[in-house]
Amino acid sequence: MLDKIKQLQEEIEALSASGKDEVEELRIKYISKKGLVSQLFADFKTVPAEQKKAVGQAINVLKNKALDKINELKESFENADQGDGSTDLSRPGEPMRLGTRHPLAIVRNEIVEIFARLGFTVAEGPEIEDDWHVFSALNFPPEHPARDMQDTFFIEKDPDVLLRTHTSSVQARVMQKTQPPIRAIFPGRVFRNEAISARAHCIFHQIEGLYVDENVSFADLKQTLLYFSRELFGEKTEIRLRPSYFPFTEPSAEMDVSCSICGGKGCNVCKYTGWLEILGCGMIDPNVLDSCGIDSKKYTGFAFGMGIERITMLKYGIKDIRHFFENDVRFLRQFESAY
Ligand code: PHE
Repeated sequence: MLDKIKQLQEEIEALSASGKDEVEELRIKYISKKGLVSQLFADFKTVPAEQKKAVGQAINVLKNKALDKINELKESFENADQGDGSTDLSRPGEPMRLGTRHPLAIVRNEIVEIFARLGFTVAEGPEIEDDWHVFSALNFPPEHPARDMQDTFFIEKDPDVLLRTHTSSVQARVMQKTQPPIRAIFPGRVFRNEAISARAHCIFHQIEGLYVDENVSFADLKQTLLYFSRELFGEKTEIRLRPSYFPFTEPSAEMDVSCSICGGKGCNVCKYTGWLEILGCGMIDPNVLDSCGIDSKKYTGFAFGMGIERITMLKYGIKDIRHFFENDVRFLRQFESAY
């Protein structure tokens, strides 16, 4: 039996073929169900017990060699273009690389979905705005520094035309148009006259949230933000609110989340504090409700606003904000499987 195997092995090693049909004949002869190699497995039953181990091993080795050999012959014909028109033009071409979603769009969609689960709808407003929606309606005093050319892009000919510096302008637009209950978020692009660096850009993105109804309280704001933070950064996330100031909210706060990178123990991303600042928020100032046509005696509300770049940088460990706007495919392709 071992001799027979050895002989067959030599035979197979020496095989050659001059075309695909011949390879197919060889495949049938040696490794099909009734082929010579398969036949050996049938004969294996008659092998005396003490030889079974050696013979069994030899047959398996032979079978693998035969499979390899036939495949090798097959491939040698598949890859060769005979130049006689036998190339199959209906075969699929080179795979085409599809575009991918931008990391900012991935994170924006994720945030929108989280708030959608709480019943928030999405609204948008214009990027080119007027003073009233960006500042006056939001209780900015006339001498506020944000109204300065140093901070805001104005159109030279008309100081009432400017690029919005925050998505809070959409708050004013939505409140003007709708009576409460209002529960909506506003994603969008904003512009500030800033020097471009690794941490700041003159163009970036925000998501604003607005909730106005009877009896809306600071506790509602806090719980909404806690739910949001745990959905986005993981269920162990803690939040902390620090008193702050915005002209359009009173009281105002800045929210930190426990650092998702070190779990709050302290690392270089959270500057060893265990906390990361991610948004501004507060109860809508009654002056704002009144200027937008909502009765501040009947209704209260909260608002919050966050930068999408900052959250995306934290989520993916991106160290330079400029990457988002350079469209370098080596950067963008890293997010291929992120959604
Ligand atoms: N508009 C504020 C900013 O750009 C953020 C904010 C929104 C704060 C809503 C409070 C309420 O920094």
